[in-house]
Amino acid sequence: MIKTIGVLGAGQMGNGIAHVFAQYGYRVFLYDIAEAQLEKAVNTIRQNLERQAKKGAIAESLVGETVGRITATKNMADLAGCDFCV
Ligand SMILES: NC(=O)c1ccc[n+]([C@@H]2O[C@H](COP(=O)([O-])OP(=O)(O)OC[C@H]3O[C@@H](n4cnc5c(N)ncnc54)[C@H](O)[C@@H]3O)[C@@H](O)[C@H]2O)c1
Repeated sequence: MIKTIGVLGAGQMGNGIAHVFAQYGYRVFLYDIAEAQLEKAVNTIRQNLERQAKKGAIAESLVGETVGRITATKNMADLAGCDFCV
């Protein structure tokens, strides 16, 4: 059973992919070589979730829960235990 997802690259595609997996309950390891991209990606995901919550599309509590399922990392070894990588 797939529970843990690895996402390589935290740019435009990566942040969206990480967002959706985390929103639907998967544990996500988001990997990039650039620290700034990782920070930007997590901020973007949080902002997008907050927008969804403001519109009533998701519960407010899902914002923190979703972000909490994402680990941003520059260490590819953190993805070694992932069940599926994108
Ligand atoms: N953006 C789109 O609409 C779209 C659509 C289909 C396919 N793609 C493809 O998806 C991929 C990513 O596109 P994007 O728009 O997210 O690009 P992007 O430039 O927004 O993000 C790419 C990310 O990959 C990171 N990166 C570069 N080399 C790396 C490495 N060796 N290891 C880990 N991270 C690395 C960069 O730091 C950056 O954060 C590309 O191959 C692109 O062709 C993009």
